Amino acid sequence: MVKPINQLQNLPPYIFGRIKTLALEARARKLDVIDLSMGNPDLPTPPEVIERMLDTVQNHHATHRYPQAKGMPKFRKAVADWMKKRFNVTLDPEKEVCSLVGSKEGIANLCSAYLEPGDYALVPTPCYPVHFFGVILAQGKPYLMPINEKNNYLPELDKIPEEVAQKAKIMFLNYPNNPTCAVIEDPAYLKDVVAFAKKYDILVCYDNAYSEIAFDGYVPDSFFNIPGGWDVGLEFHSFSKSYNMAGWRLGWACGNQKLLGPLEKIKSYKDYGVPTFIQLAGVRALDLWPDFVKDLSATYQRRRDYLCDGLNRLGWKVAKPKATMYLWARIPEAFQSMGSLKFCEKLISETGIAVSPGIGFGDEGEGYVRFALVTRDSRLYDLLLRLKKFQGVTGVSIPKGVKTSS
Ligand SMILES: Cc1ncc(COP(=O)(O)O)c(C=O)c1O
Repeated sequence: MVKPINQLQNLPPYIFGRIKTLALEARARKLDVIDLSMGNPDLPTPPEVIERMLDTVQNHHATHRYPQAKGMPKFRKAVADWMKKRFNVTLDPEKEVCSLVGSKEGIANLCSAYLEPGDYALVPTPCYPVHFFGVILAQGKPYLMPINEKNNYLPELDKIPEEVAQKAKIMFLNYPNNPTCAVIEDPAYLKDVVAFAKKYDILVCYDNAYSEIAFDGYVPDSFFNIPGGWDVGLEFHSFSKSYNMAGWRLGWACGNQKLLGPLEKIKSYKDYGVPTFIQLAGVRALDLWPDFVKDLSATYQRRRDYLCDGLNRLGWKVAKPKATMYLWARIPEAFQSMGSLKFCEKLISETGIAVSPGIGFGDEGEGYVRFALVTRDSRLYDLLLRLKKFQGVTGVSIPKGVKTSS
């Protein structure tokens, strides 16, 4: 029997697939499932974006042809204009922007473009899974950098062994962070990253997928605003969360041509890029900045406050994050010994609540679960009532959330 590559054979089944299967089983048992297991926005794509896509498909049949692999000029210019007004970062749209079929695709292809068998990539744990599995599938070696409460969720560069640093080609950083929701409070840390990357000739893959979802006045920045960041980094952006366009598959990578070129090149051999009508819809989405993302952040902030307060009433200890669409929550002590996967399995089977086990993001995520804030307050109220019963908490009341359509 013909066999797939070892790297693929040796990968365990995707852990989040297990939760999805249990959610399906729960639905089959007529359980009402509240699915907060994926960062899959429940809110609609802006109508203006849908209209642009429909009009383009219907009236501009040239957009049905193969797209330009690195993105059409209009898209690349819209991205460059946005990066200027959002971060005051100047990009040459011709050479320094590349469209992606979602940033996940770009990150996986970046690994294939840069890693030779045995090369190291420096990967935080816990992390968004493609930062780890992209390296494995490219035959690289992930060197795991624990991020946790003790180190403020910042990889400790001085703990990376010299021989690993020498052989490392990529370092992944993602702030605001999925799954931990950590943000960069002090840019001095990133200056150290730049110095480290320069010393060892490492490409910093700065995943900025959550740059637009932030709260309490916090404003995420671009890695390119760190002195020297431009020389060592590529930045990845996504429309999935900022404009509720996860299913449209659109994002971009940007940075200096020397670093970006190999990504564009490998993509030109593997795919034809993003459908032109999706790129044009993306251009329309960027026109809606900043109002759309302000409203969206306000919605996530309201959900964050409600769920966080409710969990804390039930004995969890969850700090309110400054960004992202998640809560990263340490499982209450009474359930710690079962581990995060068992906890999530039991939770979905008994209550219909689906959340992600921390272990699915790496060993350092053990003991935690991630709630994605992808349902409205009234459903979060149901969730808290079910959780209260599941935990056996008494003498605590859960207030109803704001009554709203979102
Ligand atoms: C940190 C991070 N990067 C990238 C992505 C992927 O985004 P996209 O939908 O653009 O592929 C996600 C999705 O959850 C994410 O959390």
